[in-house]
Amino acid sequence: MNNTPWTRKDLLSLYDLTKEEIVFILDTAEEFKKVSQRKIKKVPALRGKTVVNLFVEPSTRTRISFELAEQRLSADIINIAADASSLRKGETLLDTIKNIEALQADLIVMRHSAAGAPNFLAPRVRCGIVNAGDGAHSHPTQALLDIFTMREKFGRIEGLNVSIIGDILHSRVARSDMWGLLKLGANVTFAGPSTLVPREFIKAGVRVCDNLKDALVGADVVNLLRIQHERQRSGFFPSTGEYAKVFGLNSDSMKYIKPDALIMHPGPINRDVELSSALADCPQSVILEQVTNGLAVRMAVLFLVAGCLK
Ligand code: CP
Repeated sequence: MNNTPWTRKDLLSLYDLTKEEIVFILDTAEEFKKVSQRKIKKVPALRGKTVVNLFVEPSTRTRISFELAEQRLSADIINIAADASSLRKGETLLDTIKNIEALQADLIVMRHSAAGAPNFLAPRVRCGIVNAGDGAHSHPTQALLDIFTMREKFGRIEGLNVSIIGDILHSRVARSDMWGLLKLGANVTFAGPSTLVPREFIKAGVRVCDNLKDALVGADVVNLLRIQHERQRSGFFPSTGEYAKVFGLNSDSMKYIKPDALIMHPGPINRDVELSSALADCPQSVILEQVTNGLAVRMAVLFLVAGCLK
């Protein structure tokens, strides 16, 4: 399985990767998805390796998915809760990571609220760093699982019209999806209140809309982002009720999307804000398939980066 163009000990951002590297991860994840469909869902690929999960910001899906992926690969696992760690006593992140490394850890899976934290650490440590989301910067495994799900459904990414709707400004998912999808030849549209959709993305090759209908018509994939309530308090839009009316996907706006378009959401969902509760659970929704595919993608990523450790 590891006959590879992959040479990186870290996964930090899809911006860094070539098209070939992204496709290689997706192909590897397809193999790992088959492992999860077997009666015995475990392989010895990471036996003898120690993986530390350091989540300095809340997470449900990503943390559990990584931990299960590590178990399925037979790794030894240590979970560090930030609240119970010496980070609370003022220890620097680099010192924390150096101490973890001194215990012969091989890989660190890290979520952090500071954009760029994994990029800062990766060249300073021997162990591999896998970014599980850093601030508004990057969430590479989320984008990989999104793209995996699209490819599984349509058999291709090239030429797909993918509309990402919501708080683009603060979204690491939007940025990561954008880099991955553009590299693989998709057409990417961002839509949302103009305060939350920076026009600079046009330079990267994204179409930017400030009305929902234009983003929905012709879309093969509609990916809704979580509206963070604190943004409303900061005045980016008048109220969540108004956001739901103007940018929410619901039975009214649904008439604009193709009957075979996929509805996606990275989670956690604000039901009846960015997405109506009925549509979150409708046949076009692949939200839970995204979660299932996340396990295969994370197994592939851990397997590949572990293969490049010195
Ligand atoms: N999609 C995602 O990153 O969810 P969590 O914050 O629950 O990990």
